[in-house]
Amino acid sequence: MSRESRTARLNNGLRMPRLGLGVWQVKNEKTAEVVKWALASGYRQIDTARVYGNEEGVGRGIAESGVDRKDIWVTTKLGVGDIRRAEEAFWQSLARLGMDYVDLYLVHWPMWGWKEAWKGLERIYKSGRARAIGVSNFDRGHLEEMEKFARVMPAVDQVEISPFLQRRELREYCREREIVVEAYSPLTHGKRLHDATIEQTAKKYKKTPAQIMIRWGLQRGIIMIPKSEKREHVESNAEVWDFELEEADMAKLEALDKNESEFPLWSRG
Ligand SMILES: NC(=O)c1ccc[n+]([C@@H]2O[C@H](COP(=O)([O-])OP(=O)(O)OC[C@H]3O[C@@H](n4cnc5c(N)ncnc54)[C@H](OP(=O)(O)O)[C@@H]3O)[C@@H](O)[C@H]2O)c1
Repeated sequence: MSRESRTARLNNGLRMPRLGLGVWQVKNEKTAEVVKWALASGYRQIDTARVYGNEEGVGRGIAESGVDRKDIWVTTKLGVGDIRRAEEAFWQSLARLGMDYVDLYLVHWPMWGWKEAWKGLERIYKSGRARAIGVSNFDRGHLEEMEKFARVMPAVDQVEISPFLQRRELREYCREREIVVEAYSPLTHGKRLHDATIEQTAKKYKKTPAQIMIRWGLQRGIIMIPKSEKREHVESNAEVWDFELEEADMAKLEALDKNESEFPLWSRG
């Protein structure tokens, strides 16, 4: 267990932390503080986006944390409204973050115009200002399209995944093509933490329901980015490296798959 790797290898050889902090819906004024709690409790990845309105807070939290920028993985995303101006939007994100590079830049949604946007991301990648590029909310069909025209295939696909929405087919497809899968809303946006199976498993391992859900994904090779703005949750959500779910319990969690999103389409982050 102690030798378990805390990073995943991307298709360009970089290693990305397997656990990160998501900051969707954290107010910009509060974000720096939350980011500092996370970095103090061992997180080395922060997931933000243009549309979260808190890139500035992320940058400030990192700058004030005392942790070396180069030891932290920063992901941000190209907003839907910016799909036709990817490069300009990217520079604006860098300015808000107060950084001269990000580790991962994602196309947030496959909105009309995403293929042109991807060409912009390829140029950004070539410039070295994004160490890796990827996509979010892309299904298999989009990735198959990309295989036809992309010069650089995405390193990561960030999609909604939890024990209740496991996306096995997409994960298998990505595994075969060396696209790392990253789970957003890995705690079901907080909606299913009281599920009976999750709670029973938590009791058995003397862990919290959130830790069980995070651990499930880590054991399946998925990058997990739980969000919290409560210090105790931020800290406890990182305590997921000191236990292992037995396969029988993994199977019980796997039986929870409902293949249903927690979100109506309009409300997603
Ligand atoms: N690419 C996309 O389209 C997309 C879409 C959605 C999300 N994301 C990313 O994924 C990240 C995570 O997803 P998410 O924000 O939807 O939700 P999530 O991480 O699935 O769940 C967050 C919710 O769970 C609560 N929570 C966290 N830890 C807890 C704990 N230990 N005990 C009890 N409750 C706990 C949080 O409340 P407290 O804050 O009060 O702890 C919050 O209400 C986002 O922040 C964002 O970075 C990306």
